[in-house]
Amino acid sequence: MMKSVFTGCGAYLPQRKVSNEELAKTVDTSDEWIVARTGICNRHIAADDEMTSDLAYAAAVDALASAGMAASELDLIVLATATPDQTFPATATRVQARLGVAGIPAFDVQAVCSGFIYALAVADNFIKAGQARNVLVIGAETFSRILDWEDRTTCVLFGDGAGAVVLRAEANGDAGDRGIMSTHLHADGRHHDKLYVDGGPSSTGTAGFLRMQGKEVFRHAVANLASVVREALTANNLQADAIDWLVPHQANKRIIDHTAKKLKMPTEKVVLTVAEHGNTSAASVPLALNEAVSDGRIKQGDVILMEAMGGGFTWGAVLARW
Ligand code: COA
Repeated sequence: MMKSVFTGCGAYLPQRKVSNEELAKTVDTSDEWIVARTGICNRHIAADDEMTSDLAYAAAVDALASAGMAASELDLIVLATATPDQTFPATATRVQARLGVAGIPAFDVQAVCSGFIYALAVADNFIKAGQARNVLVIGAETFSRILDWEDRTTCVLFGDGAGAVVLRAEANGDAGDRGIMSTHLHADGRHHDKLYVDGGPSSTGTAGFLRMQGKEVFRHAVANLASVVREALTANNLQADAIDWLVPHQANKRIIDHTAKKLKMPTEKVVLTVAEHGNTSAASVPLALNEAVSDGRIKQGDVILMEAMGGGFTWGAVLARW
């Protein structure tokens, strides 16, 4: 059986940073309200001519460089996004064309904020099945394009960005005990109305805007994340103190605090980027991962627990040794 080992990661954030104060000039909100309810201070917003594939490509190039791998060595690209450049083709194929690796499979995964966790699970299964050796997994979003900038209950929460990792197949044992230990995915479509976009090619013919029942999402996120984190630990016969780093989806600091508290994890072991990135949906976990790897917090051999919850609802976790 093959194992998926992380060999590199990368990220890209659009240049334009928008603070809460700047938002408060056009939206009826305040820095105090946003910080107290969410922990968000800033978010990055893509330039008018920047698309999700541009962000994804930049993160991919960064990840390949950190892996010391040429794009030509890839044999699969999986890209998680809920904000593709176009309805079709998959944004992954646009990234593939720019990387110059025609011929290998490339496709998108749509699980909104859980997208990167889903994409990692898909990539891991390709590797375990012996169908891929070197896989580029990307989470990339331009949520600014699907926000109703007049709805203060949603527009203050999200940002744009991209993160990526490179996975390499290693025969069990060849990379020590490094690599993905297990993946855990869930969905419950009965909760559609609590978090969705009110448009789409088959309904309105427009891209639509994000709609959310914030309190309901909060309540389910806290419960589902606690449950999937427990599931990941149990599957590996581990206690929470075996985790070196919690790398959570960055939607809201209060949700993250809740999960960390359940795990009895001190805040020093939680990677937090929500203050500077806001919620970047499928990009948030790889962006946080990249930050903690780049600044030397996450080291080879560390046990990391990644988790996310998003529209659908979808939720999941990946336990891995970096
Ligand atoms: N600025 C100022 N006031 C705001 C505001 C804003 N940006 N957004 C909402 N308010 C107001 C509301 O209108 C409401 O006013 P009212 O009491 O006069 O009606 C008040 O603040 C409280 O709103 P409420 O929705 O009850 O706040 P909350 O404590 O639930 O916090 C969220 C709202 C969105 C921050 C919170 O519910 C949340 O984080 N939910 C999860 C969202 C999430 O993570 N989604 C992505 C999952 S992937």
